[in-house]
Amino acid sequence: MTVLGIESSCDETGVAIFRGQRLLSNVIATQESIHRLYGGIVPELASRAHCSRIDRLWQLALKRSGCDPGSLEAIGVTTTPGLKGSLLVGACFAAGLGYALRIPVYHLNHLQAHLAANYLHSRLSFPALGLVISGGHTNFFLVREKVNFQLIGGTVDDACGETFDKVARMLNLNFPGGPEIEKLARQGNPDRFRFPRPLLSPGSLNFSFSGLKTAVLYHIRQHGLKDIPDICASFQKAVADVLVEKVRRAVERYPVKTFLLGGGVVRNRYLSRRLCHFLKSRGLTPLVPPPRLCLDNAGMVAILTAALIEKGYPPAPKSIRVVPTR
Ligand code: KG4
Ligand code: ZN
Repeated sequence: MTVLGIESSCDETGVAIFRGQRLLSNVIATQESIHRLYGGIVPELASRAHCSRIDRLWQLALKRSGCDPGSLEAIGVTTTPGLKGSLLVGACFAAGLGYALRIPVYHLNHLQAHLAANYLHSRLSFPALGLVISGGHTNFFLVREKVNFQLIGGTVDDACGETFDKVARMLNLNFPGGPEIEKLARQGNPDRFRFPRPLLSPGSLNFSFSGLKTAVLYHIRQHGLKDIPDICASFQKAVADVLVEKVRRAVERYPVKTFLLGGGVVRNRYLSRRLCHFLKSRGLTPLVPPPRLCLDNAGMVAILTAALIEKGYPPAPKSIRVVPTR
């Protein structure tokens, strides 16, 4: 089975080709330089950039894979959640290509695809727990098998990556803020400032990061932009403590052997080390996608599409109807 994946839910345009158990190509065009000017993603600019790039990326993915378009058997495209205009670009491109190549198109959930980025791992087993930590979401899933996801917890306000980005903006750092904070935190003292660890009610698997973000804001208002590496390290440690505590609650409630991590924030070495260390101490196997498959990409979309097809799921209803003319 040769599958084409398309991703355009936020600010990365991606096209990938997956065959057997291998990604033959996985190309990504990031829009970081466009949005950096504004300190965050501007939806209208994002969809325009997807429009102008997607065709070139499809050509490039095809060339790199060495495949003939006629050998493609299905297309998977992210259709939820995400920025509406951005999603539409990918969905329409997939529909057009599916029609031209006469192959089915599958509509996919972006968060599930983040977890599916782990499906090439040899130690994969089910049932598993999954945690997506990205710019827009911080969600727990019980994953009973490759395509069976049950949402068991999520963010009630800011997502984890969003909190990194907003704190970075308060510190006058570049967008996206996560990698900038991680870099500075390496030179800082994580125990210098005691920021809050918002945990919500006992046993809750939901997340709330807005209080932590506000605590950093008040700290800056009171002390100014001093000791930035210490602020970054202390903030990052508070986030890690919250994530580890929530993961502890989840694994105690759902006894599984495997834990899937996914999403852009998982690229943070300190956070993923803390999470993996905790999971291993409980005898679980943590799976973390390779860095290229953590951030938004179409490889994860193609991998999940192949799993859906393997399980016999139907494609999306035909989104383009051609009315015959008389
Ligand atoms: O998964 P992703 O590419 O997009 C969404 O689905 O949202 O995640 C992007 C998020 C951004 O908020 C970015 O700041 C964060 O991932 N991120 C990081 C790191 N690298 C990316 N956060 C913390 N540390 C990092 N090294
Ligand atoms: Zn994402």
